Amino acid sequence: MKKAWWHDKIAYQIYPKSFYDSNGDGIGDLPGIISKLDYLKDLGVDILWLSPIYKSPLADQGYDIADYYSIDPRFGTMEDMEHLIAEAKKRDMYILMDLVVNHCSDEHEWFQKASADPDGEYGNFFYIEDTNDERRPCNWRSYFGGSVWEPLPGRPDKQYLHVFHKKQPDLNWENPRVREEVYKNIRWWMEKGLGGFRIDAIINIKKKLPFADYPVDREDGFSDIGNMLADAEGVGEFLGEMAREAFRPYDAFTVGEVCNEKEDEIKNFIGEDGYFSSMFDFCGTCYGKSDKGWYDSKPYLTPEEYKSCIFKTQKKVGDIGMVSNIIENHDEPRGVSHYIRPEDLCEDSKKLLAGVYFLLKGMPFLYQGQEIGMENVAFESLGDVDDISTLDEYQVALKAGMKPEEAFKAVIAFSRDNARTPMQWNDSENAGFTVGTPWLKVNPNYKSINVEAQEKSEASVLSFYKKLTALRRDPEYKETLVYGDFEAYLEEEENLIGYYRIGDRKVLVLANFQKEERGVKLPGEVRKILINNQEGLDINAGGVVLSGFQMVALEIL
Ligand code: NOJ
Repeated sequence: MKKAWWHDKIAYQIYPKSFYDSNGDGIGDLPGIISKLDYLKDLGVDILWLSPIYKSPLADQGYDIADYYSIDPRFGTMEDMEHLIAEAKKRDMYILMDLVVNHCSDEHEWFQKASADPDGEYGNFFYIEDTNDERRPCNWRSYFGGSVWEPLPGRPDKQYLHVFHKKQPDLNWENPRVREEVYKNIRWWMEKGLGGFRIDAIINIKKKLPFADYPVDREDGFSDIGNMLADAEGVGEFLGEMAREAFRPYDAFTVGEVCNEKEDEIKNFIGEDGYFSSMFDFCGTCYGKSDKGWYDSKPYLTPEEYKSCIFKTQKKVGDIGMVSNIIENHDEPRGVSHYIRPEDLCEDSKKLLAGVYFLLKGMPFLYQGQEIGMENVAFESLGDVDDISTLDEYQVALKAGMKPEEAFKAVIAFSRDNARTPMQWNDSENAGFTVGTPWLKVNPNYKSINVEAQEKSEASVLSFYKKLTALRRDPEYKETLVYGDFEAYLEEEENLIGYYRIGDRKVLVLANFQKEERGVKLPGEVRKILINNQEGLDINAGGVVLSGFQMVALEIL
């Protein structure tokens, strides 16, 4: 693999609205992030991805951008942003922005102009059709429910396309002017000293045209967008152009939100001349999700299911490129609540999960709060929920015949708000996130799960994450942990996750994903215990005995 500057880095996602509020308005902000840079440096992360902070009406929490060149005043100013980039640089850290260009906000100037004059220049920035509610151009279902078509403001004879919320009109990537505007904006930000971008919902930029219906797959009479996307060819031409025009000249690090790629496409996405540097592994995220909706999906994975997902990705990506490994993000439940069975959730199993995913081949991404083992929220009612997906999925569950309490219980396990509650800094009011009223209620467990308490304890989840980041940087093991091959070990053994990383050293990762202890044979002599989530390890002639939820990485001779 041709070496790149970002290969040995560790990334951390910040959801700015919930990270740290410096001015008491209940909303996290850029000065808040700056004040926590030393904390992040100490944790051992290098690249910080910020969910959107551009000017936005926040209909989808900033994934609806009204101006790509300005910072929303709720998050701070452009000077704050420049200050953040500079302060990060001083600490050898890099900032990634979120590139949200499948759509913009209906409050963006382009859309306002398009609405005022659909036949003018800006009309062609969007997909606007002569039509009405009775005869829409196609039956695709928006990701947030309902039709993808919405009447153009003030023009009952026309409708525009939005694959997400109606306040997120899709940009027409077939129009070269739109693409040039996007590249211009990327260059503008790169000139400010960014490290790169996380690229939002990017597969959606290519539509199958002309618009046509797909088989109806729910009682609402619509068809999942995935059906159209499977048919839409040519996204690579746009992505290749974007890489050439905007990313490569700056040697930007880019990580794509890419779902449903076909196996033979991985090379195009993240191979040596791929469109992106990396892309997220969503295998575990998608596992068990039902076409019917969240109410019918699996709220957590068993260890065997989790293993099958991570191993599948490791094997299929192999040496092609660097995938980005995650257990959670701002769109998902908390990793420890999703990948650990409820009856198994404890400090040791949290550390076990951390060790297993972190040492896989690829780039580890942490999501804010993951490093202290933040858990899903015991929401009491729908009134506590802000997330538009949850509200839609609740309706889907009701329509499927569930009673309100059942529907609430079923969908809440997947709510994006599980990950969006404020960061838990300490045990003072509102978890030390704000001195005001937080925009979303703090998880009540902040008294026991918070940064300050965990900083004081060697045995905390936070301390374990620090050991993991230190191990990945250790000059003796770095080559192996960054570039070494993945090879499964004792794959058939139930509730055991075992794998090698083989480079100039041979590292064996073993995790006993059950409460009962177990003996595990070893393939060779142990030279060194590199990390252990518990005290001590019972090594005998033939192997090791792992306690319940014990995870270790061993150098094997
Ligand atoms: C993916 C983002 O992660 C999610 O939060 C957002 O709602 C959609 N894309 C639309 O931008």
